[in-house]
Amino acid sequence: MIKKGIILAGGLGTRMSPLTKAVNKQLLPVYDKPLIYYPLSVLMLAGIKNILIIVNKGQLNQFRKILPEKNNLGINLSYKEQIFPGGLPEAFIIGEKFINGENIALILGDNFFYSQSLTKKLRQCVKLKVGAKVFLHPVKNPSQYGIAKISKNKIVKIVEKPKKYFSNLAVTGLYFFDKNVCEYSKKLKPSKRNELEIVDLLNKYKSKKKLKAEYIGRGGTWLDTGNINDFYSTSNYVSTIENRQGLKIACLEEISLNNKWIKKVDIVKSLAFYGNCDYSKYLRSLIYKN
Ligand code: TTP
Repeated sequence: MIKKGIILAGGLGTRMSPLTKAVNKQLLPVYDKPLIYYPLSVLMLAGIKNILIIVNKGQLNQFRKILPEKNNLGINLSYKEQIFPGGLPEAFIIGEKFINGENIALILGDNFFYSQSLTKKLRQCVKLKVGAKVFLHPVKNPSQYGIAKISKNKIVKIVEKPKKYFSNLAVTGLYFFDKNVCEYSKKLKPSKRNELEIVDLLNKYKSKKKLKAEYIGRGGTWLDTGNINDFYSTSNYVSTIENRQGLKIACLEEISLNNKWIKKVDIVKSLAFYGNCDYSKYLRSLIYKN
């Protein structure tokens, strides 16, 4: 059972400059909450309560204001800094001590998932014992993503930003790895763009026939918030769903309450933490719900 997760929330956010000059992208608002709430909610839905957040240099204090180690969510949060964005597998080098030889989940700080049976699928994924598992989802423009080809239910090819079309299935920013991930990551060589590549790490597992795929499904949504248009699209998506249904996406306290990690009385502490805002109004409705 995977009991630990890492959120990789560093990066330079270059494509979103000047918004990201002073503030880490993951602290910017996606409708009514900071972006970091969404990937964190995914790990929590998976039942993972030991979480390491990797942030870029100079942003730790900002993150701690919104997600302190001593939080009201019933989760164990810790932080590490990444001095320079040297690639996604660096998460397993920076996080080696935290991982401590166990299996691990990784989610990118700017990824957004929303789908009917997501929790069920996540709970299956955390049962991973050996190998690695990735979530795949179709995209219109495969040349901008890491793309996987499937044959007979197996991943037979993975290429980062392929120039020539061979599949429309993108590898999303949610991964599950066995305990070998730190060793494999340390052996990776930087690519031409001078980064350790997640595709190289996944290919390592593929060469050992230990790479599996999971699907969000056609009715589900995967968005990433890499550029300003994607950012606003995601914000609009959340606002549309929340305002229609009156249910919040990625309300962390609600997930903790459902997971029985906190009690209704604990939500009162969160009310004091957030103060008088729409989010608190929603939290209050959880307290008075049967
Ligand atoms: P990117 O899209 O590669 O990085 P970015 O969002 O900072 O964007 P830009 O290209 O505009 O500078 O990364 C995706 C996510 O992973 C994002 O949330 C940042 C995070 N990340 C790290 O934390 N460390 C890294 O070394 C890399 C490559 C990414």
